[in-house]
Amino acid sequence: MIIEPRTRGFICLTAHPTGCEQNVLNQIEYIKSKGAIDGPKNVLVIGASTGFGLASRITSAFGSNAATIGVFLEKPPKPNRPASPGWYNSAAFETQAHQAGLYAKSINGDAFSNEIKQQTIELIKKDLGQVDMVIYSLASPVRVHPETGIKHKSVLKPIGDPYTNKTVDFHTGDISQIAIDPASEDDIENTVAVMGGEDWKFWIDALQKENLLAPGAKTVAYSYIGPKLTEPVYRKGTIGRAKDDLEATAFDITESLEAINGKAYVSVNKALVTQASSAIPVIPLYISLLYKIMKENEVHEGCIEQMQRLFADRLYGSGEIATDDKGRIRVDDWEMREDIQAKIKELWDSATTETLADIGDLEGYSTDFFNLFGFKVAGVDYDQDVNELVDIPGLQS
Ligand code: NAI
Repeated sequence: MIIEPRTRGFICLTAHPTGCEQNVLNQIEYIKSKGAIDGPKNVLVIGASTGFGLASRITSAFGSNAATIGVFLEKPPKPNRPASPGWYNSAAFETQAHQAGLYAKSINGDAFSNEIKQQTIELIKKDLGQVDMVIYSLASPVRVHPETGIKHKSVLKPIGDPYTNKTVDFHTGDISQIAIDPASEDDIENTVAVMGGEDWKFWIDALQKENLLAPGAKTVAYSYIGPKLTEPVYRKGTIGRAKDDLEATAFDITESLEAINGKAYVSVNKALVTQASSAIPVIPLYISLLYKIMKENEVHEGCIEQMQRLFADRLYGSGEIATDDKGRIRVDDWEMREDIQAKIKELWDSATTETLADIGDLEGYSTDFFNLFGFKVAGVDYDQDVNELVDIPGLQS
């Protein structure tokens, strides 16, 4: 079939297999071009199909020849109905990994559930014995709690006062004011239940109970801080509370891994266009200004560049792993550079529908958004008929 993008707000309902494959190939090439990493050997990636999780899986496999098990929640294709992009990404990744002689298998299902944890445990037992790295990179709007059965929904709201600021419709470039009412206590609790650290700890506890973590095993989850500008809706909002919880959980996990000398880390990553971040009000305008300035300063990175730096220079670099005063690894260091942030602050005030095309990188934002779904990828001929019914070779049923 010929597959075209069909967008509805910040989501795209279709995905292109060849475009997704090309994205994966580009990321693999990047990792190979940067040379070998003395990294992990058996890696479990939870949230492995898109964004930072996919980039972590690619970095592990093609940077340090790791065997990888990927867990994700993606929609398989049906005749005339393309799959979700993470499905095609995972198919392309596994095909490449297998061609390179690397072990790669995947599990498609709800990572928050006991069933998927159990299935993953059985697979590790059978095929790998133990893992020495667990990457926790879930971004989800909902979580059904495995013990209570309650369905928690996360919200992106400020806490305390209503928040008003500029936001952009990245399809049209129209800048408007957005007003968001503050969260209720329930909203905060629900968001922490979905995006906080409890499920990460559940995973690590379940793996440790079965002796599936190798001595010295590491686990890493991803967080975000960002500038003052977005604080009310991000770091000091509901999602920020969830990130506080996630970051605190790293210390609990490290404590629980003492017997095997394991350690949990949180890496604070850069703001990037992913399916998760497109949904947050105000952030797309911030990202389009950020991209412009970081590109001008030649410090722009995508998910794969970020993960390459995280693995090669931090997690598996030489010497002690550098952290901030709260114990977090910072690969958002270039985003948070004083000169970069000062420039964004200056541009923010002058950003209007008329000026944005000049002062921001709206085109870069938009291209990255379509790229997430395999569209507008350089070198892909979108007039070609393409088979939407792609299999993931190592998918477990
Ligand atoms: P993403 O939306 O690209 O990836 C989310 C992954 O989670 C996908 O593999 C998806 O299949 C999986 N997933 C979602 N619900 C699931 C479920 N119930 N069961 C199994 N798998 C499920 O998100 P992104 O942006 O890569 O986010 C990953 C982490 O990085 C999040 O913790 C996010 O807060 C963090 N982060 C994101 C930044 C950004 O700017 N995008 C910046 C810094 C941190």
